[in-house]
Amino acid sequence: MCGIIGINSNRPVSASIINSLKKLEYRGYDSAGIATLSKGLINEIKSEGRVDNLEKNSLIKNMEGTIGIGHVRWATHGAANSLNAHPHSSQNVSVVHNGIIENSTILKKFLINKGHKFKSQTDTEVIVHLITEHLKSEDMISSITKTLKQLHGSFALGIIFKDKPDLIVGARRGSPLAVGYGPNENYLGSDSYALKSMTNKVTYLNDGEFCIIKKDYVEFFNEGGTKINKKVLELSSEEEKYDKGDYKHFMAKEIEEQPTTLKNGIKEYVDTSNNDINIYNFPWKINEISSITLIGCGTAYHSCLMAKYWFEELTSLDVNIDIASEFRYRKNRFKKECLYVFVSQSGETADTFAALDLCKKNNMKTCAVVNVIESSIARDSDFVLPIHCGTEIGVASTKAFLGQILILYILALKLGLLKNDIERNLFLEKLKDLKELPKLVEQTLMTDNKIQSISTTFNEAKGSMFLGRGFSFPIALEGALKLKELSYIHAEGYPAGEMKHGPLALIEEGMPVVVLAPRDNYYKKTISNMQEVIARGAKVLLITNKSKDEIISENIWETIEVESTNDDLLPFLLTIPLQKLAYYSALKKGFDIDKPRNLAKSVTVE
Ligand code: G6P
Repeated sequence: MCGIIGINSNRPVSASIINSLKKLEYRGYDSAGIATLSKGLINEIKSEGRVDNLEKNSLIKNMEGTIGIGHVRWATHGAANSLNAHPHSSQNVSVVHNGIIENSTILKKFLINKGHKFKSQTDTEVIVHLITEHLKSEDMISSITKTLKQLHGSFALGIIFKDKPDLIVGARRGSPLAVGYGPNENYLGSDSYALKSMTNKVTYLNDGEFCIIKKDYVEFFNEGGTKINKKVLELSSEEEKYDKGDYKHFMAKEIEEQPTTLKNGIKEYVDTSNNDINIYNFPWKINEISSITLIGCGTAYHSCLMAKYWFEELTSLDVNIDIASEFRYRKNRFKKECLYVFVSQSGETADTFAALDLCKKNNMKTCAVVNVIESSIARDSDFVLPIHCGTEIGVASTKAFLGQILILYILALKLGLLKNDIERNLFLEKLKDLKELPKLVEQTLMTDNKIQSISTTFNEAKGSMFLGRGFSFPIALEGALKLKELSYIHAEGYPAGEMKHGPLALIEEGMPVVVLAPRDNYYKKTISNMQEVIARGAKVLLITNKSKDEIISENIWETIEVESTNDDLLPFLLTIPLQKLAYYSALKKGFDIDKPRNLAKSVTVE
């Protein structure tokens, strides 16, 4: 997936394109590029790596052109180098693309036979040559409609034409695309965030639509090329300022912001004066819901898994969870009385969006748990529960994870109460504990003394394991994911009770193993599993909660104690040392913590 931007103006556009590309880097940072039209020619400048590299190119400052397109890439077809960087151009046409063209190999053969020469290994280049081919005999609009019909897969496109110096074409299928309106200039962008410094007036393209952007007006068309009218939306004009402050990395800041994330979420949903949970405008009656399916990817999937334990504990609902990329292609049994919940920080993840789309086509009840309330998933869901954690820049999610699990816990509590599955007194007790949670997270954050030195052992190891049972199992998975994302160390999360069925074979002398064993219902069982790995030579880092009772085990390498609370809420506290372990381990290795290799913050391709 990638980020695209287009500007059609009276003034030179290259500097504004670069600024917008910087905002789009969360979509990919393998390469960056820009193309403008000037003096009857297409000019291109591209570079490998970050937008900073592109900006350093001495030619950028003098790049002319009042109309242009730009791109940041997350490589899918072809290596992450400047040759494969977008825009891709022929003499007549230049294209930026977010998505994947699934039939590019067949189209490429067809075009080579027609005499077209390819410069890159990308799927995108076929779009350039298809349009160029059609332009030989067709006008621009029918060249576009014919090309779009020939493409299989997903795309958001920005296109400029040498012979049309007054317009940019945008087209969308699958990947998001927005149009923005400014004074004597108009824009195209992967999202409104990229356009926000220039405008708060936007129109989102729907699947199959395309548009022609002129300086003073924009025309929209459906798939067949017929003109359509579309609404202009006014977004909040405040541009959120978010910088690192005194922190070395956004991730460090985002970890520390977690007490505030929790406070914001609690303030939004918990009515402290009436001791209740308010979920305003919930569009369904409680007896219309007898099951819940939670769907997400990556960290958001771990939030779904965490929520499964809570929903089972606190409600009588049947609970299913799914990885979006699996759900979207399975033969699902859609049930009218099921609530489908889509969990996504960005609200743009392609697989999660496709799963939502599938549920909508089957007339299911859909609810989004998102951070970005203007996102595609939020816009298309029947009901939205925002997590209110503010901008998250670090690719490896931290505060959004705690934000997601907080909202899912609050939802489980409320549905449990409404369905009479938990008694009011128990509900009140849990609410009281919940209000204390931000403070406990804050205290847990302050006790990091040992983690820095512990991280050295992980860095020196071939691999590591993260074990937990019950409520701690999803956190073990999340801890392992954080370590591999940031430190590129092989880390596997496993249910502690499953070790004996295979993974125990991996344990050898000195292998670091994290065991999450808070003093909950699973404590004794997990401690037994921990003994089994210690007996085989593992160096165990035990993470538990503070207690007056001594730890019932010997030969533990290191122990970290988090604060104590009720069993439901311990997962929030156990998460903190695991985030820090991943952070310090990457810091020591000198890796790019906020932008780990090969990854992106928002994954808008399948
Ligand atoms: C990417 C990010 C992960 C994130 C996942 C889902 O893989 O690197 O941090 O958990 O996408 O993203 P979403 O925006 O849907 O929560």
